[in-house]
Amino acid sequence: MSFREDLDRAADWVDAYLARVGELPVGAMLAPGAIRALLPEAAPERGEPFEALLRDLDEVILPGLTHWNHPRFFAWFANTGSEPGILAELLIAALNVNAMTWLSSPAATELEVTVLDWLAQLLGLPRGWHGHIEDSASTSTVAALAAARTVKPGGVVYASEQANFSVEKAARLVGLEYRTVEVDDAFRMRADFPIDDATAVVATVGTTGTTSVDPVPELARRCERAGVWLHVDAAYAGSAAVCPELRWCLDGVEGADSIVVNPHKWLFTPMDCSALWTRRPEAFHETFAVVSDYLVATDAAVDLKDYGPALGRRFRALKLWAVLRFYGAEGLRELIREHVRLAQLFASWVEAEPGWEVAAPHPFSTVCFRHTGFDSFELARAATATGELYVAATRLRGLDVIRLAIGNARTTEADVRRSWEVLRECAR
Ligand SMILES: Cc1ncc(COP(=O)(O)O)c(C=O)c1O
Repeated sequence: MSFREDLDRAADWVDAYLARVGELPVGAMLAPGAIRALLPEAAPERGEPFEALLRDLDEVILPGLTHWNHPRFFAWFANTGSEPGILAELLIAALNVNAMTWLSSPAATELEVTVLDWLAQLLGLPRGWHGHIEDSASTSTVAALAAARTVKPGGVVYASEQANFSVEKAARLVGLEYRTVEVDDAFRMRADFPIDDATAVVATVGTTGTTSVDPVPELARRCERAGVWLHVDAAYAGSAAVCPELRWCLDGVEGADSIVVNPHKWLFTPMDCSALWTRRPEAFHETFAVVSDYLVATDAAVDLKDYGPALGRRFRALKLWAVLRFYGAEGLRELIREHVRLAQLFASWVEAEPGWEVAAPHPFSTVCFRHTGFDSFELARAATATGELYVAATRLRGLDVIRLAIGNARTTEADVRRSWEVLRECAR
């Protein structure tokens, strides 16, 4: 069996999968251990052909997967394994370079710095900030809070009660106390809390629950005056800023110290890819740079291992490069706009239907809603059990709601309409 033939097989498999993913049941509804029970106890003694793996992928693994690349996957923050991203992942593995230092593969570092500059321009972020890629927003926030701690050790991290739990985790990891701040009626962090004892404030642009946007300009002014680090978690909604009419969501970020946006959430880049920028690279360098006997620094070059926790670094820049070039700014804007349009349309259907209500403002592509006569968790489970769509529920200040998060490039108006029909059928 030649590699070339297996490459064709893999390509055929991917092509066929993407063509039929919309017809598969979206969610895997299995008992824990069901797939493990079908897998051999140990690795094979003798090597097997790739075809055998593809067969098991179809027969054993696929029925146990929840298909995030399904056009009616609307849970958490839906995302896209896009065609350019898929192709780039293949190339990344073929090259298998490690972008730990500039010297370890110069073009990998230079491409990473370049695509982060491209993305900064697309999002209207300040030029000239240091940007690099981490695996996840969780890691990006750990890195930012660790840098903040270097500048001002021992204080408190303040974030909205609606902040993602990765922020609390990051505070715990870097050994800082974590305190939450109340939100207003629109789920935005209040800006009038005392910050004298703060090391850092984390503002969220697009909270996980409702996609609310914290008052970044006001927080930036207060942090600047108090000498406190402001980190902006724009993991989901930051991507919206590619559209001029949605750029307001990043107002004030020029006054922040660091910001994270996840292209693997709403910028059509396969898992994983998290973009982190900072105007204070020296604090990151002081936190993460280590001198080693075997990794030599190069004058006038940047070694990205010195700006985050990981030494070994995947060539993620290649897939972001592929995505930005394949869609172009225009293509990205079109997709984001269409997702926002579909979410607003869905919200209008919910509002017009007796017994249903929209539970929070919905400025982007995510709508929180509920049926007044049903438990939202049960209704989301029942709708998902049909296999037609996948939605998840959450609790918003004591009220259970279902979230419909649109983020897959293959989602059409017909998909959203069908999902609304299924939800209504389930409530009957
Ligand atoms: C607002 C927000 N921040 C951070 C995260 C964590 O992202 P990651 O999974 O990349 O660590 C999430 C995850 O959904 C999120 O919604």
